[in-house]
Amino acid sequence: KKATIITAPFSGGQPKGGVELGPEYILNAGFEKQAQALGWETAVVHPLANTDYESKKTDDKDSYGIKNTSIVSQCCEKIHTAVKSALDSDSLPITVGGDHSIGMATVSAALEHNPDACVLWIDAHADINTPKTTDSGNLHGCPISFVMGIDRESFPPEFSWVPENLKPNKIAYIGLRDVDEGEKAILKKYNIPAFSMYHVDKYGIGKVVDMALDAVNPDRKNPIHLSYDVDAIDPSFVPATGTRVEGGLSLREGLFIAEDVAQTGLLASIDIVETNPLLAETEEHVLDTVSAACAIGRCALGQTLL
Ligand code: ARG
Ligand code: MN
Ligand code: MN
Ligand code: MN
Repeated sequence: KKATIITAPFSGGQPKGGVELGPEYILNAGFEKQAQALGWETAVVHPLANTDYESKKTDDKDSYGIKNTSIVSQCCEKIHTAVKSALDSDSLPITVGGDHSIGMATVSAALEHNPDACVLWIDAHADINTPKTTDSGNLHGCPISFVMGIDRESFPPEFSWVPENLKPNKIAYIGLRDVDEGEKAILKKYNIPAFSMYHVDKYGIGKVVDMALDAVNPDRKNPIHLSYDVDAIDPSFVPATGTRVEGGLSLREGLFIAEDVAQTGLLASIDIVETNPLLAETEEHVLDTVSAACAIGRCALGQTLL
């Protein structure tokens, strides 16, 4: 069992500073050792080393209505290459962010490696805005539309390298509770399986994970890419993140998703994103958030309670 921790210290998909420190905090908390203790042979790679994207970040929208197009594209292309090369060497890529714009890199890499792969997107947000629908212009709210090729005519040329290889019936959401109107229309139009907090409350998290997998992986034979935005979990447990939304998953529900995906034996790649240590009001907030991010990773790597 091999795993490659891919650091993505990048904040250009959204305006707040600090999320680029996520990987450093998670590694300093001992995540690599924790993975090894679970029987994984690990490597850590830094595809953004020797880049200077953070200093080029601005708050201006370009003519496409989005911000920081060029640095997001360049960052994502590097992450995409790193994820693919881990997969090609039979190592499980764990991409640690950084903001969620890198989802376009990791999801498209997972699907290039295995076109049958499916995606579980765990998030308070759908991140399926297009340059046409986004109000904020923040690209961490848009990665899925690029990989699905939605509103393609609104894409800037910088993203032409992104393989449009995700089909609408191959991604399921869990944890949604802050979805923009334009995103709701897209989810409806493409009939994308989406389980909000309403569904978690109605059916319970166990049933919801089953239903999500039934939708995208009915025979439980295809690899799973787990893209985990820590803001899916309630801000009372995970306060240090950039777009907090009340009414989220309990810490146990959040970890259960990772545990249950591990149980399938089909996990092929993971993202753990949006940990922003600078948005904590107290040291305890930092610790809670970083611990939760590490715990998500350990559960996905097979840690069990018994
Ligand atoms: N939907 C909002 C937007 O487009 C929020 C996105 C938040 N995304 C995230 N990865 N936390 O800006
Ligand atoms: Mn393979
Ligand atoms: Mn989110
Ligand atoms: Mn997200």
